[in-house]
Amino acid sequence: MSRIAYVNGRYFIHQAAAIHIEDRGYQFADGIYEVFGVYKGKLIGTRGHLDRLAYSLSELSIKNPMSERAIMHIVREIIRRNRIYNGLVYLQITRGIAPRDHAFPNQASPILVVTGKSTKVSSDEELRSGISVITIPDIRWGRVDIKSISLLPNVLGKQLAKETGAYEAWMIDKNGFITEGTSTNAWIVTEEGELVTRSATNGILNGITRLAVMDVAKEAGIRIVERPFTLKEAKKAREAFITASTTHVKPVTKIDGNSIGNGHIGIITLQLLDGFLKFIEKGTDSKNLHPRCRETKKIRHE
Ligand code: PDD
Repeated sequence: MSRIAYVNGRYFIHQAAAIHIEDRGYQFADGIYEVFGVYKGKLIGTRGHLDRLAYSLSELSIKNPMSERAIMHIVREIIRRNRIYNGLVYLQITRGIAPRDHAFPNQASPILVVTGKSTKVSSDEELRSGISVITIPDIRWGRVDIKSISLLPNVLGKQLAKETGAYEAWMIDKNGFITEGTSTNAWIVTEEGELVTRSATNGILNGITRLAVMDVAKEAGIRIVERPFTLKEAKKAREAFITASTTHVKPVTKIDGNSIGNGHIGIITLQLLDGFLKFIEKGTDSKNLHPRCRETKKIRHE
């Protein structure tokens, strides 16, 4: 079966889907994106993704090309036409096509692209298996709370992880604190049993999975502390894990070659993974919402 992609008003066979060479996404990375997870045929965290989409567009003064209802119609159509049971939907909006000039064009209309991909259903064993992370300096710009398509530092970091046999690279800010992974949020469970993740400022992307896991943790009575943590603290942690729409809750059992806990998924991570899978199976939205746009809530700058 051929894959189908949506490009600016039409559905195309994936290989035939194309974008103009002067799309500002191509020339300036002037655009934003979202990745929706699909689990057992259901979209995960729709409300959160739509709110973060509105937030990213608003922060970059890009007009949303259509209503949420119309966007969701396309997202569902992509799931249906590509028969996705387990996988993801990628959605990208750029500022549009215009002769190359750094300042915003007067005329351009935003361009929407939506693609979908099926991925293999993981066994329980695969879901629970641990991964290794390396650490690298965080060399990204100061507004990584915006889900921009400008991802070079993330690309370089993930490549280094791959080349060194790790799954992810955790980035460390200039004060020695871990920000997040190249495409995932970072969490630890301290020796004292506190669940720690960095607070959602301009220094991290506020993950939709992160917000849902907070709901799950609260319901389970686990104490969450939103604060930065150092590499030293992470290496001493009882447990560590990452979260993202495509990875759910994934245990980290090695950081820079140091084993975390007993080298297997920890008790709290397991509880959160199971809780999260139940949560997404219900197809509900998180109570913990992403700020929609700058009018409703200003991001806290570090
Ligand atoms: N990445 N941090 C970064 C830098 C990310 O790129 C992502 C998502 C996350 C987790 O966000 P969420 O829980 O909303 O997926 C955190 C997506 C999956 C990607 O770029 O492919």
